[in-house]
Amino acid sequence: MMSQPPLFSPWRLRGASIRNRVALSPMCMYCARDGLVSDFHMSHYAGFAMGGTGLVWLEATAIRPEGRISNGCLGIWDEAQLPGLTRLATHIASFGAVPGIQLNHAGRKAAAKPAWAGGAPLTPVTLADGERLWQPIGPSDVPFAEGWQTPRAMSLDDIAALRSDFVAAAQRAVRAGFKMIELHFAHGYLIQSFLSPLANHRTDAYGGSLENRMRLAAEIAGDVREAMPAEIPLVARISATDWIEGGWTLDDSLVLARLLKGAGVDMLDVSSGGNMVQGVANSALTQRSGYQTDFAHQIRTATGLPVQTVGLIRSAAFANQLLEDGKADMVALGRQMLFNPRWAAHAFQELAAPGDFSGWPAPYGWWLEKWSRSLARKGESPFHRELEDDPRRPN
Ligand SMILES: Cc1cc2nc3c(=O)[nH]c(=O)nc-3n(C[C@H](O)[C@H](O)[C@H](O)COP(=O)(O)O)c2cc1C
Repeated sequence: MMSQPPLFSPWRLRGASIRNRVALSPMCMYCARDGLVSDFHMSHYAGFAMGGTGLVWLEATAIRPEGRISNGCLGIWDEAQLPGLTRLATHIASFGAVPGIQLNHAGRKAAAKPAWAGGAPLTPVTLADGERLWQPIGPSDVPFAEGWQTPRAMSLDDIAALRSDFVAAAQRAVRAGFKMIELHFAHGYLIQSFLSPLANHRTDAYGGSLENRMRLAAEIAGDVREAMPAEIPLVARISATDWIEGGWTLDDSLVLARLLKGAGVDMLDVSSGGNMVQGVANSALTQRSGYQTDFAHQIRTATGLPVQTVGLIRSAAFANQLLEDGKADMVALGRQMLFNPRWAAHAFQELAAPGDFSGWPAPYGWWLEKWSRSLARKGESPFHRELEDDPRRPN
Protein backbone atom coordinates (compact mmCIF):
# COMPACT_ATOMS: atom_id res chain seq x y z
CA MET A 1 0.00 0.00 0.00
CA MET A 2 1.35 3.44 -0.96
CA SER A 3 1.37 6.15 1.70
CA GLN A 4 -1.99 7.86 2.11
CA PRO A 5 -2.19 10.77 -0.34
CA PRO A 6 -3.84 13.91 1.11
CA LEU A 7 -6.73 13.56 -1.37
CA PHE A 8 -7.73 10.44 0.56
CA SER A 9 -7.16 11.59 4.12
CA PRO A 10 -10.50 11.66 5.93
CA TRP A 11 -11.61 14.95 7.42
CA ARG A 12 -13.98 15.98 10.16
CA LEU A 13 -15.72 19.33 10.15
CA ARG A 14 -17.99 19.74 13.18
CA GLY A 15 -20.04 16.51 13.15
CA ALA A 16 -19.48 15.69 9.48
CA SER A 17 -16.99 12.88 8.81
CA ILE A 18 -15.87 13.06 5.21
CA ARG A 19 -14.08 9.98 3.88
CA ASN A 20 -11.82 11.95 1.53
CA ARG A 21 -11.25 15.48 0.21
CA VAL A 22 -13.20 15.07 -3.03
CA ALA A 23 -16.43 17.03 -3.42
CA LEU A 24 -19.00 17.13 -6.17
CA SER A 25 -19.39 20.83 -6.94
CA PRO A 26 -23.02 22.01 -6.83
CA MET A 27 -24.47 21.84 -10.34
CA CYS A 28 -28.00 22.77 -11.39
CA MET A 29 -29.68 20.09 -13.43
CA TYR A 30 -32.78 22.18 -14.22
CA CYS A 31 -35.03 19.17 -14.48
CA ALA A 32 -37.23 19.38 -11.37
CA ARG A 33 -40.96 20.03 -11.56
CA ASP A 34 -42.34 22.30 -8.84
CA GLY A 35 -38.94 21.99 -7.16
CA LEU A 36 -39.47 18.28 -6.45
CA VAL A 37 -36.79 15.58 -6.45
CA SER A 38 -37.32 13.13 -9.32
CA ASP A 39 -35.93 9.73 -10.31
CA PHE A 40 -33.32 11.59 -12.34
CA HIS A 41 -31.96 13.29 -9.21
CA MET A 42 -31.89 9.98 -7.32
CA SER A 43 -29.75 8.28 -10.01
CA HIS A 44 -27.65 11.34 -10.75
CA TYR A 45 -26.52 12.00 -7.17
CA ALA A 46 -26.24 8.33 -6.23
CA GLY A 47 -23.73 7.93 -9.06
CA PHE A 48 -21.24 10.28 -7.42
CA ALA A 49 -21.76 8.76 -3.98
CA MET A 50 -21.25 5.24 -5.35
CA GLY A 51 -18.24 6.57 -7.20
CA GLY A 52 -16.38 7.29 -3.97
CA THR A 53 -16.94 11.05 -3.68
CA GLY A 54 -16.54 12.25 -0.10
CA LEU A 55 -18.94 15.18 -0.16
CA VAL A 56 -21.86 15.37 -2.57
CA TRP A 57 -23.25 18.89 -2.87
CA LEU A 58 -26.75 19.18 -4.23
CA GLU A 59 -27.33 21.83 -6.85
CA ALA A 60 -28.57 25.35 -6.02
CA THR A 61 -31.87 24.62 -4.28
CA ALA A 62 -34.32 27.48 -4.08
CA ILE A 63 -35.54 28.77 -0.74
CA ARG A 64 -38.61 30.21 -2.49
CA PRO A 65 -40.38 29.59 -5.81
CA GLU A 66 -39.27 33.03 -7.03
CA GLY A 67 -35.71 32.29 -5.94
CA ARG A 68 -35.34 29.66 -8.63
CA ILE A 69 -32.99 30.31 -11.52
CA SER A 70 -35.35 28.41 -13.83
CA ASN A 71 -38.61 26.53 -13.58
CA GLY A 72 -36.52 23.34 -13.33
CA CYS A 73 -34.59 24.17 -10.14
CA LEU A 74 -34.92 22.03 -7.03
CA GLY A 75 -36.78 23.70 -4.16
CA ILE A 76 -36.91 23.61 -0.39
CA TRP A 77 -39.64 26.15 0.31
CA ASP A 78 -42.46 23.70 0.91
CA GLU A 79 -43.04 20.77 3.28
CA ALA A 80 -44.18 18.79 0.23
CA GLN A 81 -40.57 18.89 -1.00
CA LEU A 82 -39.24 17.21 2.16
CA PRO A 83 -40.00 13.54 1.42
CA GLY A 84 -38.08 13.66 -1.88
CA LEU A 85 -35.15 15.52 -0.33
CA THR A 86 -35.09 13.10 2.59
CA ARG A 87 -35.01 10.11 0.25
CA LEU A 88 -32.19 11.72 -1.71
CA ALA A 89 -30.06 12.63 1.33
CA THR A 90 -30.54 9.13 2.77
CA HIS A 91 -29.65 7.54 -0.56
CA ILE A 92 -26.43 9.57 -0.90
CA ALA A 93 -25.42 8.78 2.69
CA SER A 94 -26.10 5.06 2.17
CA PHE A 95 -23.07 4.97 -0.18
CA GLY A 96 -20.77 6.54 2.40
CA ALA A 97 -20.81 10.12 1.09
CA VAL A 98 -21.77 13.17 3.11
CA PRO A 99 -24.90 14.74 1.61
CA GLY A 100 -24.70 18.54 1.43
CA ILE A 101 -27.14 21.04 -0.01
CA GLN A 102 -26.65 24.49 -1.51
CA LEU A 103 -29.38 26.99 -0.61
CA ASN A 104 -30.03 29.76 -3.09
CA HIS A 105 -32.12 32.74 -4.06
CA ALA A 106 -31.37 33.67 -7.66
CA GLY A 107 -32.26 37.37 -7.27
CA ARG A 108 -32.03 39.32 -10.50
CA LYS A 109 -30.82 36.24 -12.40
CA ALA A 110 -34.09 34.39 -11.62
CA ALA A 111 -36.74 33.47 -14.20
CA ALA A 112 -34.39 32.18 -16.89
CA LYS A 113 -34.42 29.24 -19.26
CA PRO A 114 -32.38 26.19 -18.16
CA ALA A 115 -28.71 26.57 -19.13
CA TRP A 116 -29.04 23.69 -21.57
CA ALA A 117 -31.94 25.52 -23.24
CA GLY A 118 -29.82 28.64 -23.68
CA GLY A 119 -30.10 30.22 -20.21
CA ALA A 120 -31.76 33.33 -21.63
CA PRO A 121 -34.29 35.24 -19.53
CA LEU A 122 -37.84 33.91 -19.78
CA THR A 123 -40.30 36.07 -21.66
CA PRO A 124 -44.05 35.61 -22.28
CA VAL A 125 -43.08 34.47 -25.79
CA THR A 126 -40.45 31.89 -24.77
CA LEU A 127 -42.51 30.43 -21.94
CA ALA A 128 -42.83 26.66 -22.47
CA ASP A 129 -45.84 24.62 -21.47
CA GLY A 130 -46.12 24.47 -17.66
CA GLU A 131 -43.47 27.16 -17.09
CA ARG A 132 -44.15 30.22 -14.99
CA LEU A 133 -42.76 33.72 -15.38
CA TRP A 134 -42.23 35.92 -12.35
CA GLN A 135 -40.80 39.26 -11.26
CA PRO A 136 -37.24 38.96 -9.94
CA ILE A 137 -36.01 40.93 -6.95
CA GLY A 138 -32.62 42.48 -6.24
CA PRO A 139 -30.80 45.03 -4.13
CA SER A 140 -31.57 47.71 -6.74
CA ASP A 141 -33.58 48.04 -9.93
CA VAL A 142 -30.56 47.22 -12.08
CA PRO A 143 -30.98 44.28 -14.50
CA PHE A 144 -28.31 41.59 -14.84
CA ALA A 145 -27.76 42.36 -18.53
CA GLU A 146 -29.58 43.72 -21.54
CA GLY A 147 -32.77 41.80 -22.21
CA TRP A 148 -33.14 40.65 -18.60
CA GLN A 149 -36.04 41.79 -16.43
CA THR A 150 -35.50 44.79 -14.20
CA PRO A 151 -35.58 43.45 -10.64
CA ARG A 152 -37.77 45.05 -8.01
CA ALA A 153 -35.53 46.70 -5.41
CA MET A 154 -36.11 44.98 -2.06
CA SER A 155 -37.64 46.85 0.87
CA LEU A 156 -36.44 46.35 4.45
CA ASP A 157 -39.49 44.13 5.01
CA ASP A 158 -38.45 42.02 2.01
CA ILE A 159 -34.99 41.66 3.53
CA ALA A 160 -36.40 40.55 6.88
CA ALA A 161 -38.63 37.98 5.12
CA LEU A 162 -35.69 36.72 3.07
CA ARG A 163 -33.64 36.14 6.22
CA SER A 164 -36.37 34.03 7.76
CA ASP A 165 -36.84 32.06 4.54
CA PHE A 166 -33.14 31.14 4.51
CA VAL A 167 -33.49 29.95 8.11
CA ALA A 168 -36.62 27.92 7.33
CA ALA A 169 -34.88 26.35 4.33
CA ALA A 170 -31.81 25.43 6.40
CA GLN A 171 -34.00 23.87 9.08
CA ARG A 172 -35.82 21.83 6.44
CA ALA A 173 -32.48 20.73 5.01
CA VAL A 174 -31.39 19.47 8.43
CA ARG A 175 -34.69 17.64 8.88
CA ALA A 176 -34.22 16.05 5.45
CA GLY A 177 -30.87 14.61 6.61
CA PHE A 178 -28.36 16.88 4.89
CA LYS A 179 -25.17 16.93 6.95
CA MET A 180 -23.66 20.11 5.52
CA ILE A 181 -25.31 23.32 4.37
CA GLU A 182 -23.92 25.76 1.85
CA LEU A 183 -25.24 29.28 1.37
CA HIS A 184 -24.93 30.45 -2.23
CA PHE A 185 -23.27 33.86 -1.93
CA ALA A 186 -21.65 33.67 -5.39
CA HIS A 187 -22.21 33.96 -9.14
CA GLY A 188 -24.37 37.09 -9.17
CA TYR A 189 -27.34 35.54 -7.40
CA LEU A 190 -29.23 37.52 -4.79
CA ILE A 191 -26.74 37.69 -1.95
CA GLN A 192 -23.73 38.32 -4.17
CA SER A 193 -25.62 41.10 -5.93
CA PHE A 194 -25.84 42.81 -2.53
CA LEU A 195 -22.06 42.40 -2.09
CA SER A 196 -20.99 43.85 -5.42
CA PRO A 197 -21.10 47.61 -5.99
CA LEU A 198 -21.90 46.87 -9.64
CA ALA A 199 -25.33 45.50 -8.72
CA ASN A 200 -26.01 47.17 -5.37
CA HIS A 201 -26.82 50.89 -5.69
CA ARG A 202 -28.71 51.18 -2.39
CA THR A 203 -28.30 54.13 -0.09
CA ASP A 204 -29.63 52.50 3.11
CA ALA A 205 -27.88 50.25 5.66
CA TYR A 206 -27.55 47.50 3.01
CA GLY A 207 -25.73 49.55 0.36
CA GLY A 208 -22.88 51.95 -0.16
CA SER A 209 -19.89 51.05 2.02
CA LEU A 210 -18.33 47.58 1.95
CA GLU A 211 -19.58 47.06 5.49
CA ASN A 212 -23.15 47.83 4.42
CA ARG A 213 -23.00 45.65 1.30
CA MET A 214 -21.76 42.70 3.40
CA ARG A 215 -24.47 43.17 6.03
CA LEU A 216 -27.07 40.85 4.47
CA ALA A 217 -24.59 38.00 3.89
CA ALA A 218 -23.36 38.21 7.49
CA GLU A 219 -26.91 38.40 8.86
CA ILE A 220 -28.06 35.36 6.89
CA ALA A 221 -24.98 33.36 7.88
CA GLY A 222 -25.48 34.31 11.55
CA ASP A 223 -29.24 33.56 11.48
CA VAL A 224 -28.72 30.17 9.85
CA ARG A 225 -25.84 29.22 12.14
CA GLU A 226 -27.93 30.03 15.19
CA ALA A 227 -30.85 27.96 13.95
CA MET A 228 -28.81 24.88 13.10
CA PRO A 229 -27.60 22.05 15.32
CA ALA A 230 -23.96 22.44 16.36
CA GLU A 231 -22.88 19.28 14.51
CA ILE A 232 -23.86 20.61 11.06
CA PRO A 233 -21.10 22.60 9.31
CA LEU A 234 -22.10 25.82 7.59
CA VAL A 235 -20.36 26.66 4.32
CA ALA A 236 -20.64 29.70 2.06
CA ARG A 237 -19.75 29.79 -1.62
CA ILE A 238 -18.39 33.16 -2.65
CA SER A 239 -17.19 34.74 -5.86
CA ALA A 240 -13.70 35.89 -4.89
CA THR A 241 -13.78 38.54 -7.62
CA ASP A 242 -16.19 39.97 -10.21
CA TRP A 243 -13.27 40.02 -12.69
CA ILE A 244 -14.31 43.60 -13.44
CA GLU A 245 -12.55 46.89 -12.69
CA GLY A 246 -14.60 48.69 -10.03
CA GLY A 247 -16.37 45.50 -8.94
CA TRP A 248 -15.97 43.04 -6.07
CA THR A 249 -12.31 42.14 -5.43
CA LEU A 250 -10.18 39.57 -3.64
CA ASP A 251 -9.40 42.18 -0.97
CA ASP A 252 -13.15 42.55 -0.36
CA SER A 253 -13.37 38.74 -0.14
CA LEU A 254 -10.73 38.67 2.58
CA VAL A 255 -12.77 41.12 4.64
CA LEU A 256 -15.93 39.13 3.97
CA ALA A 257 -14.22 35.86 4.91
CA ARG A 258 -13.31 37.24 8.35
CA LEU A 259 -16.84 38.52 8.84
CA LEU A 260 -18.41 35.20 7.84
CA LYS A 261 -16.00 33.31 10.06
CA GLY A 262 -17.20 35.46 12.96
CA ALA A 263 -20.80 34.73 11.99
CA GLY A 264 -20.16 30.99 12.32
CA VAL A 265 -19.24 29.89 8.79
CA ASP A 266 -16.97 26.82 8.96
CA MET A 267 -15.62 26.72 5.40
CA LEU A 268 -15.60 28.94 2.34
CA ASP A 269 -16.16 27.46 -1.10
CA VAL A 270 -14.21 29.82 -3.32
CA SER A 271 -15.44 30.41 -6.85
CA SER A 272 -15.50 33.63 -8.89
CA GLY A 273 -17.47 35.74 -11.38
CA GLY A 274 -21.07 35.41 -12.50
CA ASN A 275 -22.23 38.87 -11.50
CA MET A 276 -21.94 40.54 -14.89
CA VAL A 277 -21.63 39.23 -18.44
CA GLN A 278 -18.42 41.23 -18.88
CA GLY A 279 -16.73 39.25 -16.07
CA VAL A 280 -17.16 36.01 -18.00
CA ALA A 281 -15.08 37.35 -20.88
CA ASN A 282 -12.42 38.72 -18.51
CA SER A 283 -12.11 35.51 -16.50
CA ALA A 284 -11.93 33.43 -19.68
CA LEU A 285 -8.56 35.03 -20.36
CA THR A 286 -7.06 33.50 -17.23
CA GLN A 287 -8.83 30.17 -17.18
CA ARG A 288 -6.60 27.17 -16.67
CA SER A 289 -6.69 24.21 -14.30
CA GLY A 290 -7.09 25.45 -10.74
CA TYR A 291 -7.44 29.09 -11.87
CA GLN A 292 -9.45 29.95 -8.76
CA THR A 293 -7.25 28.07 -6.32
CA ASP A 294 -4.98 30.99 -5.60
CA PHE A 295 -8.01 32.95 -4.30
CA ALA A 296 -8.91 30.06 -2.01
CA HIS A 297 -5.32 29.74 -0.84
CA GLN A 298 -5.03 33.44 -0.01
CA ILE A 299 -8.28 33.33 1.96
CA ARG A 300 -7.16 30.21 3.80
CA THR A 301 -3.79 31.75 4.67
CA ALA A 302 -5.15 35.14 5.72
CA THR A 303 -8.11 33.96 7.78
CA GLY A 304 -7.35 30.40 8.85
CA LEU A 305 -10.75 29.37 7.49
CA PRO A 306 -10.85 26.00 5.74
CA VAL A 307 -11.55 26.34 2.02
CA GLN A 308 -12.95 24.27 -0.81
CA THR A 309 -11.39 25.03 -4.18
CA VAL A 310 -13.00 24.51 -7.58
CA GLY A 311 -12.42 25.31 -11.22
CA LEU A 312 -11.19 23.23 -14.13
CA ILE A 313 -9.58 20.62 -11.88
CA ARG A 314 -9.34 17.38 -13.81
CA SER A 315 -6.59 14.94 -12.84
CA ALA A 316 -6.14 13.08 -9.57
CA ALA A 317 -2.46 14.04 -9.42
CA PHE A 318 -3.27 17.75 -9.80
CA ALA A 319 -6.06 17.66 -7.20
CA ASN A 320 -3.78 15.85 -4.78
CA GLN A 321 -0.96 18.33 -5.37
CA LEU A 322 -3.25 21.26 -4.44
CA LEU A 323 -3.85 19.63 -1.06
CA GLU A 324 -0.21 18.65 -0.60
CA ASP A 325 0.76 22.30 -1.19
CA GLY A 326 -1.70 23.39 1.50
CA LYS A 327 -3.81 25.39 -0.94
CA ALA A 328 -7.17 23.99 0.14
CA ASP A 329 -8.95 21.55 2.44
CA MET A 330 -11.45 20.16 -0.06
CA VAL A 331 -11.24 19.91 -3.84
CA ALA A 332 -14.50 20.17 -5.78
CA LEU A 333 -15.05 19.02 -9.33
CA GLY A 334 -17.92 19.90 -11.60
CA ARG A 335 -17.76 18.99 -15.27
CA GLN A 336 -15.03 16.39 -14.81
CA MET A 337 -17.41 14.56 -12.45
CA LEU A 338 -20.25 14.73 -14.99
CA PHE A 339 -17.78 13.16 -17.40
CA ASN A 340 -16.80 10.48 -14.90
CA PRO A 341 -18.97 10.11 -11.79
CA ARG A 342 -16.52 7.51 -10.46
CA TRP A 343 -13.67 10.03 -10.59
CA ALA A 344 -12.90 9.64 -6.87
CA ALA A 345 -12.85 5.84 -6.96
CA HIS A 346 -10.58 5.92 -10.02
CA ALA A 347 -8.32 8.50 -8.34
CA PHE A 348 -8.03 6.14 -5.35
CA GLN A 349 -6.86 3.33 -7.65
CA GLU A 350 -4.43 5.66 -9.31
CA LEU A 351 -2.95 7.40 -6.25
CA ALA A 352 -3.60 5.32 -3.18
CA ALA A 353 -4.16 1.60 -3.49
CA PRO A 354 -4.36 -0.03 -6.91
CA GLY A 355 -6.38 -3.23 -6.69
CA ASP A 356 -8.12 -2.27 -3.44
CA PHE A 357 -11.83 -2.11 -4.20
CA SER A 358 -13.02 -2.27 -0.60
CA GLY A 359 -14.58 1.19 -0.88
CA TRP A 360 -16.71 0.22 -3.88
CA PRO A 361 -20.25 -1.10 -3.54
CA ALA A 362 -19.79 -4.73 -2.48
CA PRO A 363 -21.57 -6.24 -5.51
CA TYR A 364 -18.92 -4.59 -7.74
CA GLY A 365 -15.93 -4.74 -5.42
CA TRP A 366 -15.82 -8.52 -5.03
CA TRP A 367 -15.60 -8.99 -8.81
CA LEU A 368 -13.30 -6.10 -9.52
CA GLU A 369 -10.80 -7.22 -6.89
CA LYS A 370 -10.43 -10.62 -8.60
CA TRP A 371 -10.45 -9.07 -12.06
CA SER A 372 -7.72 -6.57 -11.26
CA ARG A 373 -5.59 -9.31 -9.64
CA SER A 374 -5.82 -11.39 -12.79
CA LEU A 375 -4.97 -8.35 -14.91
CA ALA A 376 -1.99 -7.64 -12.66
CA ARG A 377 -0.68 -11.17 -13.24
CA LYS A 378 -0.47 -10.24 -16.93
CA GLY A 379 1.26 -6.98 -16.07
CA GLU A 380 -1.89 -4.99 -16.85
CA SER A 381 -4.31 -2.82 -14.87
CA PRO A 382 -7.91 -1.58 -15.18
CA PHE A 383 -6.47 1.59 -16.76
CA HIS A 384 -4.59 -0.36 -19.38
CA ARG A 385 -6.00 -0.14 -22.91
CA GLU A 386 -5.48 -3.52 -24.55
CA LEU A 387 -5.11 -2.08 -28.05
CA GLU A 388 -2.17 0.04 -26.94
CA ASP A 389 0.21 -2.88 -27.32
CA ASP A 390 -1.72 -4.78 -29.96
CA PRO A 391 0.40 -5.13 -33.10
CA ARG A 392 -2.81 -4.98 -35.17
CA ARG A 393 -3.61 -1.51 -33.75
CA PRO A 394 -4.15 0.98 -36.57
CA ASN A 395 -1.74 3.91 -36.55
C1 LIG B 1 -24.08 22.18 -15.33
C2 LIG B 1 -23.54 23.15 -14.32
C3 LIG B 1 -24.39 23.64 -13.32
C4 LIG B 1 -23.88 24.48 -12.32
N1 LIG B 1 -24.70 24.87 -11.30
C5 LIG B 1 -24.17 25.47 -10.20
C6 LIG B 1 -24.92 25.63 -9.02
O1 LIG B 1 -26.06 25.19 -8.90
N2 LIG B 1 -24.33 26.28 -7.98
C7 LIG B 1 -23.04 26.75 -8.04
O2 LIG B 1 -22.56 27.33 -7.09
N3 LIG B 1 -22.29 26.55 -9.15
C8 LIG B 1 -22.81 25.91 -10.20
N4 LIG B 1 -22.01 25.62 -11.29
C9 LIG B 1 -20.56 25.89 -11.19
C10 LIG B 1 -19.83 24.63 -10.71
O3 LIG B 1 -20.20 24.29 -9.39
C11 LIG B 1 -18.30 24.82 -10.74
O4 LIG B 1 -17.95 25.81 -9.82
C12 LIG B 1 -17.79 25.18 -12.14
O5 LIG B 1 -18.37 24.35 -13.12
C13 LIG B 1 -16.26 25.08 -12.22
O6 LIG B 1 -15.84 23.79 -11.90
P1 LIG B 1 -15.45 22.69 -13.05
O7 LIG B 1 -14.42 23.36 -13.94
O8 LIG B 1 -14.89 21.54 -12.28
O9 LIG B 1 -16.69 22.36 -13.82
C14 LIG B 1 -22.52 24.86 -12.33
C15 LIG B 1 -21.69 24.39 -13.37
C16 LIG B 1 -22.18 23.53 -14.34
C17 LIG B 1 -21.24 23.00 -15.40
